[in-house]
Amino acid sequence: MKPFLRWRDDWLLGLDELDAQHLALAELLNSIHDSLSAGGTESGFSSDAYRRLLDLAEMTREHFRDEEHVMRDQGYPGLGDHHREHALLLAELQDLIRHIEEGTREFTMQTLTALKHWQIDHVLNSDREFADYCRRHTGAESAARPASASRQISSVSHHSIH
Ligand SMILES: [Fe+2]
Repeated sequence: MKPFLRWRDDWLLGLDELDAQHLALAELLNSIHDSLSAGGTESGFSSDAYRRLLDLAEMTREHFRDEEHVMRDQGYPGLGDHHREHALLLAELQDLIRHIEEGTREFTMQTLTALKHWQIDHVLNSDREFADYCRRHTGAESAARPASASRQISSVSHHSIH
């Protein structure tokens, strides 16, 4: 079966720790997709998909913290804006989780798809800007990648998870 999110090598930033975390997040999104697809009799906060969503929120929070730490170490001037993007997504995830707990919202495939688009868009645009900065300012070798990749994906920009 075709994976829900098939990670592409040309999405790698050339920053090993962050790339590994992005891949792990993509795998978790795929496992949530499998869980949502399998359905089951449980729903809301007792469902397997919901438990995995909690894992995703936790893993995302740790990843953002690590990523911002690397940015701070590198003296990245875009850190403030980048942090705001992270904070917005974390707030949306928290909202989603609260609404599921309160029974006022379902965790649907549409929501998961919006999360996937957010991740791809963020990596290909905002995280890529940081990787480019690193390459320019530290001379670090970054994986050579076609410039077309970010253009290709720009059509998924500005998705909200709502
Ligand atoms: Fe980021």
